[in-house]
Formats: sequence, structure tokens, C-alpha cells
Amino acid sequence: MGATLIVDEAHSLGTRGKKGRGVCEDAGVENEVDFIVGTFSKSLGAIGGFAVSDLPDFDLLRITCRPYMFTASLPPAVVGSVTAALSRISTDESLGARVRFNSIRLYRALKLAGFEVGPEPNAIVALKMTDKETAVRFWNRLIDRGVYANLALPPATPGSLSLIRCSISAAHTEAQIDRALSAMVAVGRELGILDPDPRTSDQPAERLRA
Ligand SMILES: Cc1ncc(COP(=O)(O)O)c(C=O)c1O
Repeated sequence: MGATLIVDEAHSLGTRGKKGRGVCEDAGVENEVDFIVGTFSKSLGAIGGFAVSDLPDFDLLRITCRPYMFTASLPPAVVGSVTAALSRISTDESLGARVRFNSIRLYRALKLAGFEVGPEPNAIVALKMTDKETAVRFWNRLIDRGVYANLALPPATPGSLSLIRCSISAAHTEAQIDRALSAMVAVGRELGILDPDPRTSDQPAERLRA
């Protein structure tokens, strides 16, 4: 039909597939996809991104893609850390499983606490906020409590949602996940997002195991 298929593996790189290459590897369809793009900023914990393709004219992207044209190369430290992370991910399947375990632990606990959460998580657990102002307040109060998450606001978000996006790592301990959860529940209560009644919104962490 002349169509070209592009898949964004931003949320699945490092968490899906035997070698952590993402949902296309997991589904065994990498050869049927024209372009795969992704970011180093989520499961790899760095900055930058990639686009790969087998199409013969792919190199044209280097001189026609406007955001790429004048961009400086990534710093050596980033290239080093991304290379090391990719090598670890492709040789240790347990890392992806650990990220998923940690994400699901936080995701289920947040849902149970009464938050509106995004779709099933991979390396990112998204909390839906009612509006931009509440999202900014929530984000700042989390920082005050020693928890850093990413603030994602319209127009950069799908469906104009205001989101708090938690980046989950295989290195997070269960205690750290639970500490982040407690901070989010406390801030959720302060801002009136959650029911202030502890009997309905404060579930002990032991009952929230993934
Ligand atoms: C689906 C998707 N694609 C691409 C990106 C780009 O990530 P970055 O700008 O951090 O490289 C993001 C970031 O949130 C994303 O969610």
C-alpha cells in the first residue's frame, strides 16, 4: 500500500524482548518495521536517542531531518554510559524483568491508593493529574519530600494530559519504591487528590506487592 511503518520504542527499550530491544523484538516483527526510534532518557538513564532502519535511503535523514542537522554529537560520557547500559541489557534478561517488577509494584500501589494511572507500565509509571497547576504543585511537593519524578505537560503529552511520570529502574529497591509511594500518597492527600481517610487510601506496603 506504499505505507511506511515507524515504531517508537521509548517506553519498551530495555524492558521488553529477550535482548531488551523492545516490543518489536518481543513480538518477533523487527524485520517488518521500516523505522525504529527510541530514547536513551528512560531505561538507559541518559540523554539522546536513536533511529534505525534497513531502508537504503535512510542516510538522507542525516541531512534532511531538521532537529538533527545542527545537533552536536553526544558527550563521550553519555556515549560510554549508553554503550555499557545496552551491553548489560542485552546480556542480562533479569534486568528487564526487575524493571517490570518494580514498575508494577508502584503502579498497583498507586492505583489501589486511588490515583488515576496511565496504561500498563514499563519503565515509566504515569500519574494523571487533573490540570497543569495541580501537576506543577504535586511535582514541587514531591521534590520537597526528596522524590524526583518527571513533569509532563501539554502540548507535549497525548490527549493534553498533565502527567507525573516516574522513571523506574532495575536498581530501585523495594524500600525506595515504597518511600516514593508514601510521598505520593501524602502529597495526593495534601492536594485533595486522594481521600484523606487513611482507612480508604493508606494501604500498608506489604499488601501491595506485585
Ligand atoms: C513515546 C515517547 N517517545 C519519545 C520520547 C522522547 O524522549 P526524550 O525527549 O527524553 O529523548 C518520549 C519522552 O517522554 C516518549 O514518551
